[in-house]
Amino acid sequence: MLGSAYASSAQPVVAEGGCANINSYYPETGSTGQFMLVASGCVNATALDQACSIEGFGDTSVVFRTAGETGIHEGYIAIGSRNDEAKNPLVCDDNSPSILNGLVETGVSGYSYQPLNITSIPYSAYLMWGLPAEATIPAQFYHHYVDGVPQDGLFIGANNVTTWAIKEYSDSGSKLPYWLFRLLGPDSADPVTGAALEEGELKTFIKVAYF
Ligand SMILES: *[C@@H]1O[C@H](CO)[C@@H](O)[C@H](O)[C@H]1NC(C)=O
Ligand SMILES: *[C@@H]1O[C@H](CO)[C@@H](O)[C@H](O)[C@H]1NC(C)=O
Ligand SMILES: *[C@@H]1O[C@H](CO)[C@@H](O)[C@H](O)[C@H]1NC(C)=O
Repeated sequence: MLGSAYASSAQPVVAEGGCANINSYYPETGSTGQFMLVASGCVNATALDQACSIEGFGDTSVVFRTAGETGIHEGYIAIGSRNDEAKNPLVCDDNSPSILNGLVETGVSGYSYQPLNITSIPYSAYLMWGLPAEATIPAQFYHHYVDGVPQDGLFIGANNVTTWAIKEYSDSGSKLPYWLFRLLGPDSADPVTGAALEEGELKTFIKVAYF
């Protein structure tokens, strides 16, 4: 089911019902238990067998900006470069403006649940927290169909697109390398070169997984 054949023929269909798509949804509270995001169906076009070393790896968070005394305001959700790293848990809550709320480093020192959205820049559509609402598009849950047959799993995307480009980055700091993913929606090609994928980018789906 994995690999390019799957990736090219999967038809995303919005999963109606919002948070109720998550296994641990409690109708009484309108919220879920913790879940995570993983790279799934990742295709390594440069490997003979197309195998991808981060297949199934879970999410981590990457702080984007540390702003003096008032602390951290923005960051990315990424896929970790090691699967034994602690994952940043996510929850879904009917009362949140976003279906994805990540437990991330915020403020001066501490963690809080922040709504996650996708940046509205078409060629730089990363999953982030702390964005101004007008600079975002909402993330949605999707099911995949292949030849009309529903596939296992719940996927993240927007505007009927669930294919992401994923690429490894590393900081000069102590953090491990991480893999940032951007949605391959309309106009996601490099605005200068026209390339659909940047150097080092692989295609993947981002799937909901449970602890
Ligand atoms: C993709 O394949 C190339 C060539 O085999 C390999 O060097 C690279 O590490 C692979 N990347 C991933 C993410 O699997
Ligand atoms: C995220 O998207 C939702 C739905 O469009 C919006 O209501 C909310 O303000 C956005 N939140 C942030 C932090 O961008
Ligand atoms: C997504 O696909 C559905 C079903 O084909 C369609 O009704 C909807 O308008 C599409 N949404 C977008 C943003 O393209």
